[in-house]
Amino acid sequence: MDAAKTKHLSEELEAYAHWFVAPDPAAGGHFLAVTLFAEFDDTARVAREVTAMFLVGAGAGELVDDAQLIVSELVANVVNHTVPDRHLARPGSCRRIDVTFKKYPKWVFIGVSDEDSTPPLLPAGEAFPAALVGELSEAVLPDSGRGLLIAQRLATSVWWSPEERGGKTVWCRFDLDEPGVRPD
Ligand SMILES: Nc1ncnc2c1ncn2[C@@H]1O[C@H](COP(=O)(O)OP(=O)(O)OP(=O)(O)O)[C@@H](O)[C@H]1O
Ligand SMILES: [Mg+2]
Repeated sequence: MDAAKTKHLSEELEAYAHWFVAPDPAAGGHFLAVTLFAEFDDTARVAREVTAMFLVGAGAGELVDDAQLIVSELVANVVNHTVPDRHLARPGSCRRIDVTFKKYPKWVFIGVSDEDSTPPLLPAGEAFPAALVGELSEAVLPDSGRGLLIAQRLATSVWWSPEERGGKTVWCRFDLDEPGVRPD
């Protein structure tokens, strides 16, 4: 991402979200957290752009396409499926989404947190064997319930964890063979 685009994005984030970056090159780690809101029109786009900015800055640019797709799906899930826990709900206000990125030293973790303690329904396996899918008409394939399956396919691992304050985080991990190098 070029400098002008990064500057524009950071100005935009300042406008309606808080964010911080703490890349400490001496520690070999990178961290970024951004708070977005489910009711804002640009939330998914901003989440994708922040994903690219973080990964390129952390030397893991080869993950950008896959990570952007996963972040889009996880953010869309918060928008479409979450109802904040009663003690976190604020009538009339937006639902909060915290997106966290960590790279250290050969793993990239991306977490999308929401205010709903209901667990996501992580697919236990494919609905149809991969070999059979090509034979099936599109009509018999499910037209929803694909987002987390896509995340499981693209990332090394996908899981969720409850948050102490309520709500939860859906996580994915990418493994890097060496810093900045993705295994084949
Ligand atoms: N953040 C979340 N909070 C609560 N429930 C969730 C969350 N994410 C997913 N779920 C639940 O898990 C199910 C599966 O999610 P998944 O993203 O795979 O499919 P989908 O969102 O239903 O459809 P698609 O992603 O294909 O549009 C959802 O239908 C929803 O019930
Ligand atoms: Mg989904």
